[in-house]
Parts: sequence; structure tokens; C-alpha cells
Amino acid sequence: MRWPVRLTASLVITLGLLTWGASYVARSVMQSWFERDLTLRAELAINGARLALTNAWTGAPVEALRDVLVEIAQDERVLGVAACRAADFTLIAATPGFPSTFACDRFGLLVKPDGAGGSWHTWTGTDNSVLGGTVHITAAPIRSSTDVLGYLILIHDLGFVSRRQAQAERLLLVAFAVLALTASTVTLIANRVAWWRWTRDLRLLLGGGHESPEFRPLMRDVRALADRIAADRDMDRDVEAWTPKRLRDAATRHFNADQVIIVANREPYIHQRTESGGIEVKHPASGLVTALEPVMRACSGVWISHGSGNADRETADEQGHVAVPPDHPSYTLRRLWLSDDEERGYYYGFANEGLWALCHTGHTRPMFRTDDWKHYEAVNRRFADAVADEASTESPVVLVQDYHFALLPRLIRERLPRATIIMFWHIPWPTAERFGICPQREHLLAGMLGADILGFHTQAHCNNFTETVERYLEARTDKERGGLSHKGRMTFVRPYPISIEWPPTKVPAAPSPDATRAEVFAELGLSANALLGVGVDRLDYTKGIEERLLAVDRLLTKYPEFRGRFVFLQIAAPSRSEIERYQQLSDAVDALVARINDRWGTPGYQPIIYRRRHHEPEQVYRLYRAADLCYVSSIHDGMNLVAKEFVSSRDDDDGVLVLSQFTGAALELTEAVIVNPYDIDQAGDALAAALEMPPAERRTRMHYMRAHLAEFNVYRWAGRMLIDAARLRKRESLWQRLAPATGGARNGGA
Ligand code: G6P
Repeated sequence: MRWPVRLTASLVITLGLLTWGASYVARSVMQSWFERDLTLRAELAINGARLALTNAWTGAPVEALRDVLVEIAQDERVLGVAACRAADFTLIAATPGFPSTFACDRFGLLVKPDGAGGSWHTWTGTDNSVLGGTVHITAAPIRSSTDVLGYLILIHDLGFVSRRQAQAERLLLVAFAVLALTASTVTLIANRVAWWRWTRDLRLLLGGGHESPEFRPLMRDVRALADRIAADRDMDRDVEAWTPKRLRDAATRHFNADQVIIVANREPYIHQRTESGGIEVKHPASGLVTALEPVMRACSGVWISHGSGNADRETADEQGHVAVPPDHPSYTLRRLWLSDDEERGYYYGFANEGLWALCHTGHTRPMFRTDDWKHYEAVNRRFADAVADEASTESPVVLVQDYHFALLPRLIRERLPRATIIMFWHIPWPTAERFGICPQREHLLAGMLGADILGFHTQAHCNNFTETVERYLEARTDKERGGLSHKGRMTFVRPYPISIEWPPTKVPAAPSPDATRAEVFAELGLSANALLGVGVDRLDYTKGIEERLLAVDRLLTKYPEFRGRFVFLQIAAPSRSEIERYQQLSDAVDALVARINDRWGTPGYQPIIYRRRHHEPEQVYRLYRAADLCYVSSIHDGMNLVAKEFVSSRDDDDGVLVLSQFTGAALELTEAVIVNPYDIDQAGDALAAALEMPPAERRTRMHYMRAHLAEFNVYRWAGRMLIDAARLRKRESLWQRLAPATGGARNGGA
């Protein structure tokens, strides 16, 4: 039953009960009124005739007494009057209509209890046997100066009372019926009017009109509910695997023909001149590139980057455009050329000596120079101009990547107000206190808040960011929905743990892990019973490479059975080598490798094989597939995709991942052997445990990690952000249409 009907029904029932109660009260009140009235009338009549009565009683003939009685009985409501003797209650005289059967002694019962006291007595009741209706009887004593001579009995007809009561009840019923009808009609009409207003407002809202003020809080709740339902529905859909096709479909469905633009400092394809004078294409060692390149292949669009390869200019057109991937082009790479000064100030200086050191607990002091900041600002502006150049619609979806571009979201917003801007921060976000070290902290935060969505790998980083904004900017926080409102616009801060492509495209073409192992072992000069561990990183102080080597040293110290048998292959891609701290690290690692090899090496055996050079992804995959274990020992890492790549390479469900607890990946790959890389003893034991792990346990752990990656792959990562952005965009367009009513607060109520 709909609520208006229910309300009306309850109203009618309530009024019915009230009517019944009221008629009951009215009946009782009327009854007592009339009784009192009749007693009064009887008194008046009897008192008026008292003298005549006394005279007639005492000695006058019966006829004289009857005449007096007839006189009293003139009142139309008097049915009859009789005079009874006091002594024996026998009839003396009665009016003609007085029922003969109505003997005086019947009143004896009424008056006797008080005997000669001679009080008035009344009785009301129905006497069907004699009078056929309701009567009121009054027995009034008639006295001489000394005695009670007798009683005058007056019988009043009370039938009119019942008639009046019935009439009053009918009136009451009619009145209440009219009241009930009016009340329910008013309720129904009010309800219809309210419903009409609601639906009108809803229609206006959906159709782009403006909502009435009292409707606004409700609509906020409706929107929140709709968001939750939509998110749940999307979650339900997530039982389906996320594939490039599904991501493409999601992008098409939610953004129609809107272009996707990625801005990342590092380009996915670097053209380099070879020693022989030719040109080769290199894939950089960058987790960001590893994750985003498959997304871009799926979505097409434009990727804007710094053109850093020494053959980049000659392989691009005049606008810096190159179609990539080189073998099967599916999107455009737009290269931006930076001067040496710009690169030094923006990339090496502010981004890497400043922000990278600031955001990682890597025990390296961040360095902020005003000159670097100026370049950082200028380069961010240049990239914003490039986005505006490349935008083929007013409302592209722009995916801004990482700490190189903290100012970019706001700069893009100034140029393309209708763009959907998603910024993803690939590295950790420090505590508010630590971020306070940065002299330009407010500029960076305000720049980032130009985005619609700000993504981090973990909830902890989102919390740190929110607290930082709360501390340094005047912003309003909506903790429940993870929103930050600054200068009238809302940015949503959410965790999106990044991942890798799944299924991995490199694996199917690769030889089996056994065949690969045999090949790699031969190349490294290892005997068949050797045990191989691998480490794959950029040469960066956050990766814990020194701690890793020390753990290998501890393993060999504590577990002599592995000496001569266990070999650790460390791949280190040179990185940011203009920066002094990176040079120091490189020297420190060289020295440590030499020391350990000195200590444990024998003719024909080196425990550590160190390769400080760039490796292409296929080469790295071969090493993963050949290894017994992979040790990821970062001392602080937003996610670490090496861990995920190692797992994705092992379609034989073998190999053990030893993983630092300080990586974002450790929150997801819980079946890895998790270690604290600073605890060298624990890490040495963990390496031993990994090498001795029974095959069944290795398979179970690997199986579960692979199942996780199959579900939480990079298409899902991108898809979730795009879906969230699409939802916000819809709401955004709604708010724009509502602008006159809301004062045009962009994103304000989202
Ligand atoms: C990290 C950063 C990326 C960067 C990569 C490689 O993963 O988050 O933005 O691309 O390191 O560093 P590089 O300085 O060589 O680009």
C-alpha cells in the first residue's frame, strides 16, 4: 500500500474511534441532563400542586384527588400520575392513562428502604413489560404537617430522550464523516501536491532545471546513494576480468569520443643512437611506464612526455609526434623538448633532489632551490600548453602522472575548464609535518587540487595527503567520501593500487621456465644445481640495494650450505646519474659487491653478479623465469611493480618472492615472504627459508599471488579511475546546469 493511502486509512479509523467515543460520552451526558430535567419538572409540578394535593388527600373524595392528578399530568411527557398510600402502598387514585397493572406496591421497593423518612426517589429504566419503553419514575412524598400521607408517582416518558440521543448520534456521525472525508481529502490533495512538486523537482533536476532549496539536502543523499549503488554495481561487474577490451569499452561508454591524454615525464619509447650509427628503441626502466603503456594501447589517444632520447627529435615530426608502439601503432607520443637548464632545474633538481627525496623515507635530505622551482613551474606550464595544443575536444580526459607535475592539474584547468583531470601520484605521500619542509608546499597542493580525482597507491598515502592539505591550505574536508574542497571546487582523493598488464603479453612467446633456466644458467656459467636469486631495480637509494646485498652476505655467513651454490644476480638500471646522491649510491654498491665477492668468492664462483646497465623488459622476464627467488628490498616504495612482474612471469607457479614490508605491493601480495629489509638477520633467514621452501608451498603461494594479479590488473586500475571520473563528470554537468540555483559551485555538492 502506498503511504498516502495508508495515511488516509489510519485517519479514517482514528476518526471512527473518536466518533464512537464521542457518541458514547454524548449519550451519557444527555441521559443525565434529561433525567435531571424531568426530576426538576416533576418537583415543580408536585410542589405547585402540593396544597391541592394535601387537601385532596385528607378527606376529599377520590375524584378531587384524581382531578389534581390530571392537572399535574398536563405535561405531554407525563405518561401518568398515581397517588399511593404510605402505610400499605395501595392505590388511591390515578390519571386515566395510568396503567392499571402498575401497582403502587411496586414502588414500595423503591421507597421502603427509607420508610417513613419520605425522601424523593427516582428510577429510570426500560419497562417493556408494562410501558413498552424507557421511563423515568419519580416517587414524591406528600406530607401533612406531621406525617407522610402517601406518595405521588409520576411516570415520564423517556422515549424522546432515546430519540434525541439517536438524532444526536446521527448528527455526530455525519459531522465526523464529513470531518474524516475532509481530512483525508486534504491529506490526499496535499500529498499529490507534494508528490507533484517532488517529481517536478526531480524532473527539473534530471532535465537540467534547478532544484528548490528544501530539495537540496535530499538530493545530496540521493546522489550519495546513487553513487554507492553504481559503485556496488561496478563491483559486481568486477567478477568479470578486466581486459584491454573491457577498458576500451568502459572508456568509450563513459567518455564517448572524448580523447584520452596522458602526461608523464618519462616517455614509453626512447629512440637512441647506437654505437654503429643506427637508431634503436628502448623501453625505460619505469614502473609508471610499465603500468600505463598497456592502458594507452587499449585506449589510444596522446601521451605527452619529455623527449629524452638522443635520437628522439629525428624520429618525431615537427610537432614532436611519433606513432607508437613502433611495430603496431595505436596511439600518439608527443615529445616535448627541454633545454639542459630546464631538465637540470625541473627534473634533476626540484622533482628528484626535492620531491623524490621528500616523499621517500630514504634518509636522503631533500634539496629545494629557488632556481629549480622556477624551472619546475615553467616546465609545468609548458606541459599544460602542450595538453591544450593536443586536446581535440573541450573536455578531454587528462591523466596526469606523478610528482613531476604537481602544478599541472590547475594549469590545465585554467586552459581547459571542462577537462576531466585525474592525477596519479606514483610515489608515497609523506606526513604533513614532513611535507612542510617544502618551501613551495602551498603552491604544489593548490596545483594538485585542480584535479577531479587524485589517486595514490594506499589509503595511508591518501590520509597523509588529506592531513597535509588540512594543515597548509584553507580547504574543507569531506572525510566520508574522501573529498577536499578548495576554492569552490572538489577533488576526490582515493586509493588506486597500480598493477601490471594481465595476461602478460611477454610470457606466451617466451620459452618454458625450464628451458629459460637452462639457457640463463649456461650464460651465467652456473652449474645445474646452483640456486639463483635476482634483484631488478633502477639504481636508486630507495630500493634498498645495499641492504639486499648485506642480506646475501648474512645468508652465506649463517648458512654455509649455500656457499658456492647460491648466486644473486643484481640488475641495476643507471638512473638520474647527474645527481650526486645517485653517484654515491653507485659507488657504494660497487664497493659492497666487490667486498662480498671477495669474501665468499672462489675460483669459478662469485656469489654476486652485478650488472649496472639497462635491460630490456624481455631480458628481465627471462631472468625472472630462470630464478629460484626474487628479492625486492625497497626501504620505501609506493607500490613496486618488479614484485608483480616477477609473479606474472611465473606461469609455472614456481619461484619465491621475498618482499619488503615497506612496499605498497606487500599489502596485496601477502603470500610473499615478507621481510623488514633493515633487519639483515631476518632478511638472511628469509632468503634461506625461500631457498629451502618445499615445492608444494612455493606453488601454493605463487598460485594465490597470480590469482590476485589476474583480478587486480592494470586495466582494472585504469578502469576504476575512469569510471569514477565519468561519474564525477556527469555530476559536474548536472551542477553546471544547476548553476543559477546553486551559485554555480563547481563540483560543490558532489
Ligand atoms: C618512479 C617514478 C616514475 C619514474 C620512474 C623512473 O617509478 O614514479 O615517475 O618514471 O621512477 O624514473 P625516471 O626518473 O628514470 O623517469
